[in-house]
Amino acid sequence: MLGIKIKKFSFLSDKIGIDLGTANTILCCGGKVVLNEPSVVAVYQDSRKVFAVGEEAKSMLGRTPPGIEVFRPLRDGVIADFDISELMLKSFIGKVRSRLSFMSRTFNLFHPDIAVCVPGGATAVERRAIHDAALSTGARRVLLIEEAMAAAIGSGLPVMAPVGSMVVDIGGGTTEVAVVSLGGVVLSTSVRYGGNKLDEAIVYFFRRAKNLSIGENTAEKLKCALGTAYIKKGDENESIKVKGRDITLGIPKEIEVTKAEIAESLEEPIMMMLGAVQATLEKTPPELAADIAEHGIVLTGGGALLDGLSERINLITGLKVRVADDPLLCVARGTGQALDLSGQIRSYASL
Ligand SMILES: Nc1ncnc2c1ncn2[C@@H]1O[C@H](COP(=O)(O)OP(=O)(O)OP(=O)(O)O)[C@@H](O)[C@H]1O
Ligand SMILES: [Mg+2]
Repeated sequence: MLGIKIKKFSFLSDKIGIDLGTANTILCCGGKVVLNEPSVVAVYQDSRKVFAVGEEAKSMLGRTPPGIEVFRPLRDGVIADFDISELMLKSFIGKVRSRLSFMSRTFNLFHPDIAVCVPGGATAVERRAIHDAALSTGARRVLLIEEAMAAAIGSGLPVMAPVGSMVVDIGGGTTEVAVVSLGGVVLSTSVRYGGNKLDEAIVYFFRRAKNLSIGENTAEKLKCALGTAYIKKGDENESIKVKGRDITLGIPKEIEVTKAEIAESLEEPIMMMLGAVQATLEKTPPELAADIAEHGIVLTGGGALLDGLSERINLITGLKVRVADDPLLCVARGTGQALDLSGQIRSYASL
């Protein structure tokens, strides 16, 4: 009976790939990005109903009106606050649903197959939370995909071929390094170091060395504007003005910071990311290592946009390194495509 019912309505179901990221949530449907918003939600303190979500909620961070609380419900690539994550996902799916046909909306017949990516290092409990949050949106079926596999598919690597490919996905919360071949992740390393740790390192540097308190949004902007993993000769003195609060005097203050100083503050988290790449290479079996030596490493995720990162990885590994096209979208695209490849891919993270 159930089988017949599903068949009857299956033309109304759709397939959605979700990159539920620490920094951004991206939904892909039929190969297209249908939603790309920061993973931020603002809720009413008393009723816990959603006030704003995504871009609108992010702009409220640090300047919330009374009675409203703003959350980033994911930390280190996994759900930190289940109820708020569920609310956020439902709102995002609701936005996509609102663009559907009148009939599908009215009769609430939109029950898509959903694939969601999870970091390789997520525990069974963390994977279950992501699965259940996706299911609560009215999904017919939820599949969990390893984030590194999704990144490899989405960046166009030949994941099905008997060839080893290495992908490094640097997100806001985690860095995933994986070697994929024949539709599976052969080996991987996941560290809870990503773009957010770079922002925190900048905030800490200003407190310690400049006696200046700055916010994480300011730190992130600084990282994108001046941050580098590989400082080139002549660039050291490039500088930028930064506004913050003098810690001793408690008054607003503006100071100048150089590229060399920012680069130095980023060194520790960058070393952790590079360590994950080296650890994975050391464990790679010889045949796959030979493939990687030939084809190089592909970088995805927003962190791949950090200036000088590919040069730095090239310097420590001696391998060719390239940043994928649209690195911020690779995981979402790959997660969506993985639904069509189900059965051929061996890397669904098990519950
Ligand atoms: N030009 C840039 N230079 C450096 N970092 C950048 C740049 N653009 C974006 N980022 C960083 O990329 C990160 C977001 O990347 P992404 O959207 O891939 O993360 P995510 O998928 O949400 O996180 P995760 O996969 O860890 O859960 C943020 O830390 C952001 O600051
Ligand atoms: Mg990600």
